[in-house]
Amino acid sequence: MNTTSHTVAVLGAGTMGSGIACVMARAGHRTLLFDVDETNLGRGLDTVRGFFDNGVRKGKIDAAQADSAVANLSGTTDLGDLAPADVVVEAIFEDLDLKKETFGRLDGIVSERTLFHTNTSTLSVTGIASGSRLPGRVVGTHYCNPAPLMKLVEVADGRHTEGWAHDATLEFLDTLGKTSVVTKDRPGFIVNRFLIPWENSCIDALESGVGTKESIDAAVRGALGHPMGPFRLLDIVGMDIHKQVAMRLYEQLREPRFFPPPMVERMVAAGDLGRKTGRGFYEYDDNRLFGS
Ligand SMILES: NC(=O)c1ccc[n+]([C@@H]2O[C@H](COP(=O)([O-])OP(=O)(O)OC[C@H]3O[C@@H](n4cnc5c(N)ncnc54)[C@H](O)[C@@H]3O)[C@@H](O)[C@H]2O)c1
Repeated sequence: MNTTSHTVAVLGAGTMGSGIACVMARAGHRTLLFDVDETNLGRGLDTVRGFFDNGVRKGKIDAAQADSAVANLSGTTDLGDLAPADVVVEAIFEDLDLKKETFGRLDGIVSERTLFHTNTSTLSVTGIASGSRLPGRVVGTHYCNPAPLMKLVEVADGRHTEGWAHDATLEFLDTLGKTSVVTKDRPGFIVNRFLIPWENSCIDALESGVGTKESIDAAVRGALGHPMGPFRLLDIVGMDIHKQVAMRLYEQLREPRFFPPPMVERMVAAGDLGRKTGRGFYEYDDNRLFGS
């Protein structure tokens, strides 16, 4: 893969898909954002545009760069529109059958050299790759949330990933200005093995009254140097996603530190999922999935 501009299809216009679409469009790649749900697609496109508008307002990106990034972006609900993609980045629901089926359908639409990347957090890359007739082209690329701000991407080959796909993936991530860390196709890769128990312990600290959400967020920023505190981050991640990832890791690894504290269940039951529902630990009065 050379370093010129590519056509990238991003599947799923939710929190991760819209963040990954920002990354692709900013890097100069033609970016096709795909979702099966029109409303979610519209919200994802608004989130990407809002990210660049905000960047200009805050002086973090110049207006011409933002215009050119937004011009690289288009949205579709028609899988057939993804035919020109050189790279597909899958960020749909964390459901093995759905991911396998989607890759299987794409086999008949895109070229045989198109890379298939999956952003799964907890499923096996090998399992997802088995949905494609060409599992050699499938690579796990796990972006950190929020994808446009965090540099790290974990790269995990499936059992049948071919060398060309692995190498092309690392080259491609370079074009995005990302830092790649190669890991194994194991539950939670590297980051979620530490992040999920740590987020659970922050929720536990809040629930047991050690501090307020504001004081814990401030303590983590100030003492640990994190760019945002755990509750601002969890509001972007989504409590539904946190619960799902935590439970899946608990089921696979059987370690109590992965099991989500009771507050998680109450927030999910109340629909307080974070930015995506306008309320999580904090309240939000705009429609965007991330960004200040
Ligand atoms: N939220 C996080 O912090 C985070 C971090 C890293 C990885 N991930 C992983 O990224 C993936 C997406 O997570 P998310 O938080 O963005 O979820 P999300 O619920 O915010 O968004 C998922 C989107 O996928 C769409 N979708 C569902 N089925 C589809 C299909 N067949 N084709 C196209 N679109 C479809 C939905 O309409 C929705 O808009 C999951 O695999 C998740 O485990 C999440």
